[in-house]
Amino acid sequence: MEFSLFGEKFTREAGILRLMEDLGQALADAESVYMLGGGNPAHIPEVQARFRQAMQRIVERPGEFAHLIGDYSAPQGDVAFIEALADLLRREYGWPIGPENIALTSGSQTAFFFLFNLLAGEFRGGRKRILLPLAPEYIGYADVGLTEDFFVASRPEIEYLGEHLFKYHVDFDALTVTDDIGAICVSRPTNPTGNVLTEEELRTLSELARKHGIPLIVDNAYGLPFPSIIYTDSRPIWEEHIVLCMSLSKLGLPGTRTGIVIANPEIISAITSLNAIVSLAPGSFGALLSLELVRSGEIISLCRDVIRPYYWQKAQQALAWLEEFMGDLAYYVHKPEGAFFCWLWFKDLPITSLELYERLKRRQTLVVPGEYFFPGLREAWPHRHECIRVNYAGDAATVREGLRIIAEEVRRAYAEASPRLFPAPGSG
Ligand SMILES: Cc1ncc(COP(=O)(O)O)c(C=O)c1O
Repeated sequence: MEFSLFGEKFTREAGILRLMEDLGQALADAESVYMLGGGNPAHIPEVQARFRQAMQRIVERPGEFAHLIGDYSAPQGDVAFIEALADLLRREYGWPIGPENIALTSGSQTAFFFLFNLLAGEFRGGRKRILLPLAPEYIGYADVGLTEDFFVASRPEIEYLGEHLFKYHVDFDALTVTDDIGAICVSRPTNPTGNVLTEEELRTLSELARKHGIPLIVDNAYGLPFPSIIYTDSRPIWEEHIVLCMSLSKLGLPGTRTGIVIANPEIISAITSLNAIVSLAPGSFGALLSLELVRSGEIISLCRDVIRPYYWQKAQQALAWLEEFMGDLAYYVHKPEGAFFCWLWFKDLPITSLELYERLKRRQTLVVPGEYFFPGLREAWPHRHECIRVNYAGDAATVREGLRIIAEEVRRAYAEASPRLFPAPGSG
C-alpha cells in the first residue's frame, strides 16, 4: 500500500518506536529479560497505595465514578484539575497563572507533537526549526516533526568531576539563535543523562528566547513540583514566554496518559484546538485520580518524602554497582542529578553503541543506544556512538544483573580491539 508523505514519515523505523516495542515485549516476557531500557517509572508501593485509595474513593461515590468513565472532558482538559493545579502553582511558586494558562494532553509526548509543529516547520515566510541547546536530548522529540530537518542541536561542554563522573553544560559560545529558530527546548532534568541545567543556564536560555521573541519550552517531566525526581537544589521558572511541560507519568501514572502544558493563553488555546481536532478531548482519568492530591497539596509531600528519596537511593546504588563491575574500565557516567537514568559513556569504544545494544539484547539485557539522543546534531562526533542509557528504576536484582552483563559485554568489546590491554571475560 502506498502511504502519503505523512504516512511515510510516521511509519518508518523511528527510535521511539523501537524503544516502546522493546518495552512492550520486555513487559510481556518479564521473566527472562533484564529491562534497563524504556522510560517506565518504578511501581513504588506507597505511591501505588495512595492511588489505590484515590481510586476506591471514586468508585465508592457513584456520581464521581459516572463522571470518571462517562464524560468527555473539555478539550482544554478536566476543568476541576486545571483549577486545582493553577491554585497549587500560584501558592507554591507565586506564578501569576490561572486556568487560562493550563491545558492537558494525552501524555506530554502528544504535547510535544503539538508544540513543535505549532512553532516550527513550514511558515508563510519560510521554514523554522526547534533549537535543542544541549545534545544529547530526549529521544521522543526526534521524530515528531511533520517536516524533515526539524531540529538544530548543539554539542555540550564536558566537565570532568572525578575519575568516572562528568557533567554536560550548555556551550553558549557555540549557540546561535538564527532567524529560522521557532523555539528553544530543553528537558530538565534531562532524559537521557540525568543532567539538571543550572539555574544560570536556564535563565540565560530564557533571556536568549525572550530577546529573540520566541518561546523557551522546558520539559519538566521529572521536575518540580511533581514528580520531583530531582536531586539538586533548584526551582522551576515560568514566565509568559516559557512553555512548561509536565506529566503525571513519572509520578507513577504513565498508563493514564496525562500531559500538562503551562503557557500563555495563546498557546493554551492552540493546544485546546488541537486536542479537539485530533482526539476531541484529552483523557481525564489521570487528572481525576490525582485531583484530591493536587487540591490538598499532598502531591508535593508525596513527591518530596517518598518519590525523590526512592529514586535517589536507586541512583546511589547504581553508581556503586557501576564501580563494582566496571571500575577497571574507561567508563564515565553523567552525574545523576535527576530522572532515573544512568548515561554511560565508554570512551573510544571500539564498537558503536548500536552494536553494543544488539549484543546486549542477545543476552536479554535491554538498554537504549545513545545514537538516538542526538536529534539535530549534524556534525560527526564519536561521543554519540559511545554512550548508552540505562534505566535504574527497576527492581534491584534486575538492575544489578543488567549492569553486570553490560560490564561484561563492554569489556569484551574493548578486548576484541586490544586483547593485551583488556583480557576478554572468561580468559583468566
Ligand atoms: C523528558 C521526557 N519528556 C516527555 C516524556 C513523555 O512522557 P508522557 O508522554 O508519558 O507524559 C518522557 C517520557 O519518558 C520524557 O522522559
